Amino acid sequence: MFEQIIKTIEFEPILINKSLGSWIWDTEGKKYLDCESGMWCLNLGHNHPRVIQAAKNQLDEIIHRNKSFLTPITLETADVILKFMPTSFDRITFLNSGSEAMEFAISFAKKVTKQEKILSLHDSYLGAYGKAKESSYTSLDQLELKIPYPVCYDENCDCLESTRSAIDSVLDGIIPEIACFVLEPVMVSGGVFKPCSQFIQYICDKIQSNGGLVVVDEVTTGLGRTGKKFGYEHLGINPDVVVLGKALGNGYPISAIITSSEHESKCSSSELYYAQSHQLDPLGAAVAKEVVKIFEEDSIIERNQSVILELDQFFKSLNYSFIGEVRSVGMIFALKLKDYENINTVELVVKLKNELLAEGVLVGYNIGKGLLRLLPPLTMNAEEIQFLKEKMRNVFCNI
Ligand SMILES: Cc1ncc(COP(=O)(O)O)c(C=O)c1O
Repeated sequence: MFEQIIKTIEFEPILINKSLGSWIWDTEGKKYLDCESGMWCLNLGHNHPRVIQAAKNQLDEIIHRNKSFLTPITLETADVILKFMPTSFDRITFLNSGSEAMEFAISFAKKVTKQEKILSLHDSYLGAYGKAKESSYTSLDQLELKIPYPVCYDENCDCLESTRSAIDSVLDGIIPEIACFVLEPVMVSGGVFKPCSQFIQYICDKIQSNGGLVVVDEVTTGLGRTGKKFGYEHLGINPDVVVLGKALGNGYPISAIITSSEHESKCSSSELYYAQSHQLDPLGAAVAKEVVKIFEEDSIIERNQSVILELDQFFKSLNYSFIGEVRSVGMIFALKLKDYENINTVELVVKLKNELLAEGVLVGYNIGKGLLRLLPPLTMNAEEIQFLKEKMRNVFCNI
């Protein structure tokens, strides 16, 4: 059906031509509740009217420019985002995708520290290419520099006591060579886990006191997804570099790398040279500024708390013997499935996902990890939550 498109996914996508809020319509007029927020990008829902208007206004002014120029909207957006950050930063640049921004952030850390090694955590997805990909769970390339982490939601735990010597043995000897510890504050693609904060704080302290940087990948967790502005707030750490993507453009491709002048000053601009076609473009900046303004003016995160609670309670109340575990952090939910009667977990994941889709509910899934996963828009309303609950119960009851 789509033979002109290079096949990079294993299934035939559904043809759609309209979206609004939490909903998508296919070309036959059938509507779907989008519990994936596009590709986890639409924290404010599809086609948010203020975002659309900001883009339209900017389209009438200027979309793109040569690197010899800069536009006022880009500077305004920089200020708005720097002010929005929960910890102090005074430098930012804008790129297009999360992968590109992660790649830039890692290269920035190497240039600032003059070190080469990158420490990461198991299960992190950090990007699609270059060093970001190598450091991701998708790669085995630098296995010795990936730390397995304890999952823990208890602030008074003893995870650190039991893991301290394992961390020390990975780090001892090589710590002065580490450019950065790069982490995703909540593992989302990796299976929906929050690493223990004391454990993370211990690693960050060690890295930072030895001159390395802490780079936080907030591409998926940023802008309210975890119930706070940024995922790193759950961990009580003070990162050196924060990377934003996905929700920053609410569907438009823009990403950001945020850091401090103190780090920037360790390199010349020629060392940091980077000039991509759409870096700092005004159209993306206009969109990102409006997105952040909406978060502030509409108290999106505060208003989302009751939705998080309701969905969390609902998923945890699902009493089916094929659900092994429910995991959640903010508006990130995962149902871990297990073999049921004569259906194995892989078949079950595919079956439930397909049947939910037939009922008009799009959910994410991870076959390898046996998960159904939901990252709905933060703006989901009571009626949509009701729709999700009903459809899910209908499908689950008939397995
Ligand atoms: C944590 C994380 N970092 C980086 C990326 C890459 O972002 P993009 O797909 O915009 O390149 C993703 C994408 O899913 C992600 O989940």
